[in-house]
Order: sequence, then C-alpha cells, then structure tokens
Amino acid sequence: MSSNNICIYVNGFGNIGRAFVELVINEHNLLEVFNARICGVFDSSGGVVSAQGLKWEILKELLKVPRSGLGSSMVGRKGVSVLDFADEGDIVVEVTPSIYDPEHQINRNFVKLVEKGVYIVTANKAPLALNPGLIRSYGMPGPNQRIYFSATVMAGTPLINLLYGLRGRNIVKIRALLNATTNYILTLMEQGYSFEDALKKAQEEGIAEPNPALDVEGWDAAAKAAIVSTVVGWPRKIEDVVRIPLAEAGSGIEYLKRAKKRLKYMVILSEREAIVKPEPVDPESKLYHVAWNYNAVEIWIEFGENAYKIFLEGPGGGRKPTVDALFSDTITLLSTLRQQ
Ligand SMILES: NC(=O)c1ccc[n+]([C@@H]2O[C@H](COP(=O)([O-])OP(=O)(O)OC[C@H]3O[C@@H](n4cnc5c(N)ncnc54)[C@H](OP(=O)(O)O)[C@@H]3O)[C@@H](O)[C@H]2O)c1
Repeated sequence: MSSNNICIYVNGFGNIGRAFVELVINEHNLLEVFNARICGVFDSSGGVVSAQGLKWEILKELLKVPRSGLGSSMVGRKGVSVLDFADEGDIVVEVTPSIYDPEHQINRNFVKLVEKGVYIVTANKAPLALNPGLIRSYGMPGPNQRIYFSATVMAGTPLINLLYGLRGRNIVKIRALLNATTNYILTLMEQGYSFEDALKKAQEEGIAEPNPALDVEGWDAAAKAAIVSTVVGWPRKIEDVVRIPLAEAGSGIEYLKRAKKRLKYMVILSEREAIVKPEPVDPESKLYHVAWNYNAVEIWIEFGENAYKIFLEGPGGGRKPTVDALFSDTITLLSTLRQQ
C-alpha cells in the first residue's frame, strides 16, 4: 500500500468480481473520498496490479477481457496471486468460488491473508463455513474486526447485521429459507413441474448454477447455516450441519398440497440442533408464503417462559444484491479505518 492510498484487491474476476469493479468505477468519487483505489484484480490465470491504483480506464478495459484472461492480458502477470501483493492494512474483496475443502489453496490463502493483517470483504462462504474461529476472532463488529461478510448470507437483506444487533438477547431458535434456488424449484413444483423440469427452468432463468449440486444437495444452505450459527454464538463448521438433499424430498408435493401444506427447504438452528432439510410448513407460518427466489428467517428470542419471533424476508443472493452488500461492507470498513 502506498502511504496515501488504501489499496483494494479484487480476488476473483467472474460474475461478482466484475460487477463489483463496475460498481466501483461508477461510484469512484465515493472511493476517492477515502483515498481508496483498486490496486489489483485476479482470476485463476494471474492478475493485473499497480501499487498506485489501477486507472479507471484500465479497469474498464479489463472488464472486456474474457474469463481466465487476466494473466495473459496486455498489462497482466501470469501466475501471480493476491497473496503476493496484499499486505497489512490493505483490503481484499474475496469473490472466488466457494469450495468446501479446508486444504484448497483458496481457503488456505484466505487464512494467510487474515494472519497478515489484511482486511477481507467477502461473498465466499466456504472459508467461514469451514473455520468458525475466523468469524469468532475477526468477524465480530469492534476494534478487531478484519472480516466483513454480510454478502455471504441473505446478501439482499441485512441478516448478519441484524443478528449482531441482537447481541445480548437470548436467541433460542432460528428457522430460515436461505437458499433461493431450492425455494424457486419448490415453488415451480407446487405448480405441477417435476423436480427435473423445475431445475431445468431455474437454470434457464439464471437462478440455478449450471452445476446445481451445491444448491440441491444442500451445501449452500448448510454453509449459510454454519455461518449464522456461529454469528449467533453456537460456533459450527459446515460438517456439523446435518444435510438432507432436496432431491430426497421425493414426490410428496401433491399429497402436501391436499393437506394444505407446502414443502420448504428449511434451515433449523438451535444450540443443540443444526439441520437443513425439506420440511412441510403450515399456512399459519409466514415461511409458507415465501415463494420464488426470496429468502426469509424467523428468529425466536426468549421471553420469560415463552419466546417471541422476529421475521425478516427479502432477496437472498444474486448478482446485484451481492455486489451491493460487498460495496456497503467496503464503505463501512473504509469509514472505520478513517476513524482510527
Ligand atoms: N453469483 C452469485 O449470485 C453469488 C451470490 C452470493 C455469493 N456468491 C459467491 O461469490 C463468489 C463468486 O461467485 P461468482 O458467481 O462470481 O463466481 P464465478 O463467476 O465462478 O467467478 C469466480 C472467479 O474466481 C476466479 N478464481 C478461481 N480460482 C481462483 C484462484 N485460485 N485465485 C484467484 N481467482 C480464482 C475465477 O477465475 P476464472 O475466471 O479464471 O475461472 C473467476 O474469475 C462465490 O464464492 C459465490 O459462492 C455468488
């Protein structure tokens, strides 16, 4: 980092990384107020770096470079990684793929960056779902916060910030719909689609990934469950969350419809239990009415012998909500750094 600039490095130049850079270019006046510049962007082939900050015109040109093309672009360096450049006090916007293997280089680098004293703003769930200690040590708001991760769960709706705002209250249970793809598929199945046709339609409409295993086998929901559980004070890794894939829901939808229930892909968390599974829901529950690619959460808080409930519903991930959450976390971090 040069003495005047705060350097932001964008690690991952796919869907989200490019949309983030586009947003920063549009909002560059705001970044300049904080003397912040984008000093590097990286994909799996290498990166483009400038310690003084990449000019906005160069960043605009890089948005035209094809996938995996940064290393071999005119100004690129093959084989370099964000770890070679980001240093104490810099910011890394971490938007590489979520890979649920603690030994994977992306997850090891994430830990190394934090240990170096780098600030991280992330949409990548895996490093945090694999290592709850990172959230406990560096994710809590306060002077030690080095990881900002509101883009990882319900990015379009400020769930993580709400949960931190509830600190000191006794949360007893959480029931949530945290995976937009499965909610979308189940809504279509209610309308008569088979599981396979609903999945195909969700893929055609860009809701589900070309490889939907992370969603329909429950990895995405389980990762989010682990992150939420850790934030609430029940530290859990993804492997601690029982995961029942959606495909095992079978053909009970019609039967449930006759019984006036709906199948939902539910995250259930308490101190003793962490599970993601298809579950029938009654019309009396607000979760019954949450359809398509929306997310929602019920937070149950102790109230004497009983519990009261907070209900939050809104957009989950997706390109725009995720990038907005990353940008908002970045501005929060820059404001905090300015006060130090
Ligand atoms: N897409 C969404 O709506 C959404 C919503 C919420 C959260 N997220 C999370 O955000 C992250 C990014 O998602 P995405 O949709 O942008 O994925 P994506 O389009 O697949 O982009 C991933 C980027 O990471 C790069 N990459 C892969 N391995 C790398 C490495 N070792 N070092 C540096 N870069 C590497 C890829 O490089 P190449 O281009 O060379 O392959 C690509 O540029 C994921 O963790 C995802 O779970 C996404």
